[in-house]
Parts: sequence; C-alpha cells; structure tokens
Amino acid sequence: MTSPNPKDYITWFRSTSPYINNHRNKTFVIAFGGEAIDHENFHHVIHDIALLESLGIRLVLVHGAEAQVQEKLVQQGTSRKHIDGKRITDNHHIKSVVEAAGCVRIEIEALLSMGVANSPMHGAALSVVSGNFLTAKPYGVRAGVDYQHTGEIRKVDAKAIQQHLDQQSIVLMSPIGYSPTGEIFDLAWEEVAEHVATELDAEKLIFLDSTPGLLDDQQQLIRELTIREAQQLIQHQSAHCNHLQHAINACQQGVNRCHLISFELNGALLQELFTHDGSGTLIAQNNYEQLRNATIDDIGGILELIEPLEAEGVLVRRSREVLENEISQYTIIDRDGLIIGCAMLNVFDNHNTGELGCVAVHQQYREGQRGDKLLQRIEKQAVDRGLTTLFVLTTRTAHWFVERGFQPADINNLPQSKQSLFNYQRNSKVFIKSL
Ligand SMILES: CC(C)(COP(=O)(O)OP(=O)(O)OC[C@H]1O[C@@H](n2cnc3c(N)ncnc32)[C@H](O)[C@@H]1OP(=O)(O)O)[C@@H](O)C(=O)NCCC(=O)NCCS
Repeated sequence: MTSPNPKDYITWFRSTSPYINNHRNKTFVIAFGGEAIDHENFHHVIHDIALLESLGIRLVLVHGAEAQVQEKLVQQGTSRKHIDGKRITDNHHIKSVVEAAGCVRIEIEALLSMGVANSPMHGAALSVVSGNFLTAKPYGVRAGVDYQHTGEIRKVDAKAIQQHLDQQSIVLMSPIGYSPTGEIFDLAWEEVAEHVATELDAEKLIFLDSTPGLLDDQQQLIRELTIREAQQLIQHQSAHCNHLQHAINACQQGVNRCHLISFELNGALLQELFTHDGSGTLIAQNNYEQLRNATIDDIGGILELIEPLEAEGVLVRRSREVLENEISQYTIIDRDGLIIGCAMLNVFDNHNTGELGCVAVHQQYREGQRGDKLLQRIEKQAVDRGLTTLFVLTTRTAHWFVERGFQPADINNLPQSKQSLFNYQRNSKVFIKSL
C-alpha cells in the first residue's frame, strides 16, 4: 500500500479547520441501537467519538439494547408481544432489559476507556458518566392492553446532563427510565435520543443506522432534506429509514440539524461532520443555507473564507481590524454555521455610486449561482440606498462581472477618495454597472 501524499494530507487537514471551529463547544447527541455495538466497525465509531470529544464537542451518547434483549429472551425460550410496533415489556422481561442495557453500557464504557499506546485512543483519557437522568411513566393501558413496564419519558434532567458536559465528560444514556415510585421502565432509545436532544437544545442529533442514510425508492442516498421535504417522504412512504420521524420531531422542536448515517461504514461520522459532501442524510429545520447580513461573530468565518484568495492575490488583503470596522457592509452565505460566501457594499458620502467588494464563494461551493445571489442582494441594497451605479475593481474575474452587466470603465469615473487609494501596482481593472 502506498502511503498518502503528505501534501494531500496537509490540504485535507487545513480544509477541516472551519468545521472544527464551527463544532467546538456545540452539543451533539449521537444515538445508535444495540446492533451497532455488535458490528465489527463499532470500535472505529468509538475512536471517532473520542476524536470528536478531543475537538471540544459536548457529547451525549444514547444507546439501545434491543438486539441484546432479544438474544436473552430467545435463550429463555420467550419473546415479547408487539402491538402497532410498540413492545409489551412485562415483569419477567424487564429483568432481561435491565441486564442487557447494563451489559451494553459497561461494554461502551470499557471501549471509551481504552488508551493503549499506538492506538487512536492513546492519551484520550475520556471521562464517561451515566445516571438517573430520565424520569419515566408507564405507557399505560391502551385499548384494554396493559403495557406494564413499557414506559414513556416524563422528564429529562437536562441541568444535570449539562453539568457533566461542562466538566468535559461524555454522558452515556441507556434506554431505561425510573419513576418517582421507584419502578423501572423500558424506553425506546430513539425516543430517548429525540427528547434528550430537544431538552438540551442540541446543535445536532445523529442517528447511526445500518443504512448509509435515507434512501429513495431507487435505493439512492438522499443527501439533504428540509423538514417539509422529509414529511412529504413519510406521507408518500417513498423513502426507507427507521429514524426519520424522530429526526423530524427533534428538528421541529428546535434541534438545528439531524443526521442519519451508517455505523457500518468506517469513518462515516467524520466524513459527515468534516467534509463538504458528508456521508449520509442531513435534515435541517429550514433551508440550511441562509443569505444574511454579517455580524461581528462572523469575522472569523469570513477571514477563513477570504485568506486563501488573498494569498493568491485574487482579493485585496483585509485585516481583522478593517473587517471589524466594516462588518455592517457585508452580506454572507451561512451554510450550517459555515460561511461559504461573502460580498460587501461600500457607499461613498455625497456620491451616487457604491463599490462592490470582497466577492467570494468557497471553492467547494462554486457554480451554484451563489455569486449571483450575493450580487443581486448587494445591487438591491445599493438601489435601496438611492445609488445609481455600482463599481468593482478586479484583476482576474473581469468576465464574470461583464457577463452580469458591468462595463469597462476608467479610474477617473471613481469617487475621488477611491482614486487616491488606487493601487497602481495591483493595476486592477475597473467595471461599472448602472442600476
Ligand atoms: C467569482 C465567484 C464569486 C463566482 O461564484 P459562483 O457562486 O461560482 O458563481 P455563479 O455560480 O453565480 O457563477 C458561476 C459561473 O461563473 C464563471 N466564473 C467563475 N469564475 C470566473 C472568472 N474568474 N472569470 C469568468 N468567469 C468565471 C464560472 O465558470 C461559471 O460559469 P458558467 O455558469 O458559464 O458555468 C467565485 O468564482 C469566486 O469566489 N472566485 C474567487 C474570488 C473572486 O474572483 N472574486 C472576485 C474578486 S473582484
């Protein structure tokens, strides 16, 4: 096997930095069923979870244990009845549920405690906590059927979970809840994940499943969906995925993004969180790309976007201080917290012309009309402010502007204050557009 080219590695590593910065200090809930734990790829999932923790992400893991409970019940020659997909856990079954969930929890804790030299977990020293974070109530008697120890979530102790996250612990949650009367209830892990993510106001809820994400009826992966599109898929039953309804519920209750990804694919979690295309399906509250005015909090993101272009000489260098002073002039495209486009409008006092500047779209997101959207918005802002022309200085992007109605012009057409700052060494071309 040939070793990877160090240059590719460096480029790749640098390209992850916006995602790393964006995810730091955010809360992610990662949920998976018992079958994930038995899969051969699960130790890679654990390594990737350790890596997320080391990057400052606040992690809550919710596990299921259904596969392990089934195994125990089969050994005992018994099984549980299901009505409309809801299982009935009786006095006898609950013992197996508690045993299986306990074993799975301990197994995960053990995997998260590994740290042998030369392994990806070396030096990780993760702290993992579990506890009585879930108050449950009985599912009750429905249509004359007593569901006994099958429970529903009554309350999530979000404050206690947050305290552990503040102390840099990973919180590990089992699908078991306790009632104030001291009874134990069997909960659906997907419901636990949905409630916990909602109560914690998590940035992301990530479901790991045996499929790579949401598949359409041609078995093709659907990469991104809004809530409305996801609901339509459920209504028309034209997609297969076990956790879609829980993902939709969580998004509707304020979780920003839900991801459906595979636990079988090595690195799927990292690919989903740190690459442009991801590996599974993203369900977002709204359109996950937003064209909006920049704020002071966006400066770091804008700098990350424009610095490579400044280094190439495509854009003029702007310091952080200049950006801070001019931030109100900027429009940005915010994609899932990542700034992938920007442009600014500089208005000159006592002139009816404005300067369009700092037009940039992230390399990986070009040719999707984002440049056009930025230009349209800046033009509208200019018209709203009573300007009649817009000018731009460019060295390498002349044709892009000409194709959008800009005409070559002379430096003498610019406001005097701009002329006096003109950099003759850079020798940019001037283009003007009538609005
Ligand atoms: C110019 C830029 C903002 C366009 O963003 P975008 O989102 O890809 O733009 P759109 O999707 O609206 O337009 C893409 C079209 O522009 C063309 N284009 C991109 N860069 C171009 C350039 N330098 N010269 C001429 N055309 C260019 C593409 O070939 C594509 O053409 P097509 O539609 O015929 O295939 C983007 O390429 C960029 O950030 N470039 C680097 C920064 C820069 O040059 N900024 C201007 C400084 S003054």
